[in-house]
Amino acid sequence: MTYGIIGTGNVGKTLAAFFAKAGVEVALANTRGPEAVKPIAKELGGNVVAKSLDEALKADIIFFAVPFLNFKDVGSVKPDWTGKIVIDVTNAAFLPQEVQDKELRGRLSSEVNAERVPGAKLVKAFNQLPMKALSSPVPAGGKRVVFISSDHEDASVKVAKLAGELGFAPIEVGKIGEGGRLVQARNALVFQDLIKFAKD
Ligand SMILES: NC(=O)c1ccc[n+]([C@@H]2O[C@H](COP(=O)([O-])OP(=O)(O)OC[C@H]3O[C@@H](n4cnc5c(N)ncnc54)[C@H](OP(=O)(O)O)[C@@H]3O)[C@@H](O)[C@H]2O)c1
Repeated sequence: MTYGIIGTGNVGKTLAAFFAKAGVEVALANTRGPEAVKPIAKELGGNVVAKSLDEALKADIIFFAVPFLNFKDVGSVKPDWTGKIVIDVTNAAFLPQEVQDKELRGRLSSEVNAERVPGAKLVKAFNQLPMKALSSPVPAGGKRVVFISSDHEDASVKVAKLAGELGFAPIEVGKIGEGGRLVQARNALVFQDLIKFAKD
């Protein structure tokens, strides 16, 4: 598996730092080209590699760490995303209500985003916690829970495995329209900072 992160804002940089810490290589890109990403990658560590957007999109599993309204711009770069797993970290719930109404028309943001990457297997994950909380210290013996949902079970399993490698305790909650609904902003599980302790 190869990994890419699109976006070098709060989410992109925080996730890239987890890759650096775990020693897992990841391609990092933003709108401004690899030269602009290089200093960020350098600061994060050797496994984070600055790439152009096109190069980063060659990865098997790609985080779209961009604002909800920019998700479609990244989606439009390729007409066919077959073979890719796209991780949707976005939350549309903080947009003005009229923008939400126009963009979502009553649907979940991840259902809308899934249509913007035709052929891809979309997985909703890492949208639940502010990045400051996601990277805050965890009590000894515990791992921070991240919820994972997807209409594609095989993709959910792969992202859960990656989350484990990055040091999290993944919990798969099922399809986007079912368990995934609980981790969309303003619903029950979202914004819960849960720590899981291994049983002895
Ligand atoms: N911040 C949090 O704590 C947090 C937590 C959970 C979920 N979220 C959600 O995650 C999403 C991203 O949040 P953020 O705080 O990371 O945003 P942000 O700090 O504004 O960063 C956005 C990044 O996306 C990049 N970008 C935008 N359009 C792009 C495009 N077409 N191609 C390539 N790169 C593009 C920008 O590139 P440039 O740098 O070149 O402009 C920038 O690096 C939002 O939907 C947010 O609701 C945020």
